[in-house]
Amino acid sequence: MKLGTVVLAAAMLSGIAPLGAQTQSSRSAAELMDAVMWNREPIGGPFALVDQNGKPRTNEDFRGKVMLVYFGFTYCPDVCPTDLQNIGLALDQLGPAGEQIQPLFITVDPERDTAEHLKDYVPMFHPRLVGLTGDAAAVHAAAAAYRTYYAKIPLKGDDYTVDHSSFTYVVGAAGQYLGFFPPGTPPERIAESLRPRLKP
Ligand code: NI
Repeated sequence: MKLGTVVLAAAMLSGIAPLGAQTQSSRSAAELMDAVMWNREPIGGPFALVDQNGKPRTNEDFRGKVMLVYFGFTYCPDVCPTDLQNIGLALDQLGPAGEQIQPLFITVDPERDTAEHLKDYVPMFHPRLVGLTGDAAAVHAAAAAYRTYYAKIPLKGDDYTVDHSSFTYVVGAAGQYLGFFPPGTPPERIAESLRPRLKP
């Protein structure tokens, strides 16, 4: 969320061709932020992606676990690594009860974040963190279901970054949406909030 709509609007005004609808959110950052913040729309739903081992995975695979769903990209310089580290630390703090939680990292940069690439990345944060990627349409559908904003921001040359919302969504064992942690939530807070949702 560090760049925001202003930069996107500026890029559009400066004549850079808009990217295809499937490679970024179809809705504005403000609209999606409101949907999440004020709980105006259902959050979550089915997804069909591929994990860091190249295995197809859907939301159904994680039924029975409390899912922590985080959208980001591996080249993210600061926000994603910090939040993923906090999730990993929170799981460790929960001890054996933490095993009822399935942390998921869904990339919004499938072009660079291949399964092989995720395989090197996710273990840095937690041994049970599952990385998910897919084709542009599958990633677009997953992000849309979670009301997650993402958009490519061109940098120098062929380089680019991805502006994205950074909520950690919490989904119950039956697949029901429970709420979200905002970016930068410390591990202690995550662990304390989740503990009452877990069997002792
Ligand atoms: Ni990020």
